[in-house]
Amino acid sequence: MPAFEDSDLNVQAQPAQQQRSNSQAVGSSYGGSLPVPGMEPGTDRSVEVPATRSSIADPSPYMHQLSLSPSMKDRRGSRNSFGASLPIPRSKRQSRLSSVHYPDAKSGRPGMPPIQPTREILASQIQDLSGEKVKFAKNMAFAFDIDGVLVHGDRLIPEGKRALEILNGDNELGIKIPHIFLTNGSGKREVPRCEQLSKILGNPVALDQFIQSHTPMRALSEYYSTVLVVGGEGYKCREVAEEYGFKDIVVPNDIIAWDPTIAPFRVFTDEERATSRPRDFSKINIDAIMVFSDSRDYATDMQIIIDLLKSENGRFGTVAKDPVSQRIPIYFSQGDLLCPSEHPYPRMSQGAFRIGLEAMYKALTGVDLERVVYGKPELATYKYADEVMTSWMEQIHGEEKLPENIYMVGDNPASDIIGGNMYGWNTCLVRTGVFQGGDNDENNPASFGVFVNVLEAVKTAMRKELGQDFKFEWSSDNVNPVLGGGQDYSAIE
Ligand code: G3P
Ligand code: MG
Repeated sequence: MPAFEDSDLNVQAQPAQQQRSNSQAVGSSYGGSLPVPGMEPGTDRSVEVPATRSSIADPSPYMHQLSLSPSMKDRRGSRNSFGASLPIPRSKRQSRLSSVHYPDAKSGRPGMPPIQPTREILASQIQDLSGEKVKFAKNMAFAFDIDGVLVHGDRLIPEGKRALEILNGDNELGIKIPHIFLTNGSGKREVPRCEQLSKILGNPVALDQFIQSHTPMRALSEYYSTVLVVGGEGYKCREVAEEYGFKDIVVPNDIIAWDPTIAPFRVFTDEERATSRPRDFSKINIDAIMVFSDSRDYATDMQIIIDLLKSENGRFGTVAKDPVSQRIPIYFSQGDLLCPSEHPYPRMSQGAFRIGLEAMYKALTGVDLERVVYGKPELATYKYADEVMTSWMEQIHGEEKLPENIYMVGDNPASDIIGGNMYGWNTCLVRTGVFQGGDNDENNPASFGVFVNVLEAVKTAMRKELGQDFKFEWSSDNVNPVLGGGQDYSAIE
């Protein structure tokens, strides 16, 4: 049997005495010092050879969440503004055609006084008598993370429903406290997601108060024509991209249907083949890669993405001579490493996929991957949230202004809290999701505190802004300037 010497492996030889005592039998039978497969180290049938590389992988270079990475500093302007800025939609409102009806105080019959339910009339009368409190109520707002704060997957966190009822008017003023939903969730068009959330939460979630991770990425449809869209169930992310206005959308299944050898470990079903849209991708340039949601098949998606990143300007079947200047841009909709789910421990999310991809790319090319990550905690996402919040204020209170006291309620310190802190919002960390630590998160402490659940966070913030004695129900105890006390108005719709 061939034998290697330590010098062949650039391994420092053990002292002769020690070597002998460790490997008497091996030394005599095999005449070398390499461990033999199947033999346990440290026994008299094996020797231990010092490792030539550290056994500790160093993921730290890949662990930054924000888009501007050290590697980008030298390359800004390499391709439009990629890497140096993140486009967000100019229009504040996604659509006036919100699928979920949200009562609009201003709607009415042309030329006629608006029809308002009794409760709204009473609420506006009470608000007229509580000027100061109303002013404070309109000067505060909430931005809610969803997963781990209001729901776990499709399961309601009960305190979430109650918190939203309070903000939707079940409070002593009968007033709507502005709030938006700011989630790193993804993988579905906004309209069906809002409908689904409204059902789960038992409260209206309107399109115009809802931002998921890829929502601001609709702005990218003006920059790129042919895009590879990755992630999500079936073809749902293709639908998202279509709705955002991307003109030519390619998904991994289209590529596998064109050339199955691209993904050697993929079992491609007949149904997938029938529903895909193959073309000759050796004749098409992909302009950019959009990872919209979690990959359902890491092996296939990573292979296809790496192929494209290494290609000459996004053309399959080519390999770029210069991996940097000919590389197409890649965008990720969010960077969360972990995500809470029905499973007792948080599951890996899009950030884990991205870190894997970055490491592979570096190992294969020797250069850092330049990429952009949307979602919390990226500044662009918070700026967009401000726009949406301002617009939502106009819809519910007729005042297009941004409240001064904004509270972000989140469960993920590395996403919700760090982003909110950087953006100057008050941050509330809840214990119903990713965070499972002590008094506060050590790296990214919540500025307003840690709360057992979202309801406690909301009540504490409202008490701070509106007074410690503020009541969290619309009740007959309220003075009724028209009818007097004694009636239970909570039952009036
Ligand atoms: O991390 C993935 C996503 O599900 C997180 O959503 O609502 O906690 O930002 P959210
Ligand atoms: Mg969360």
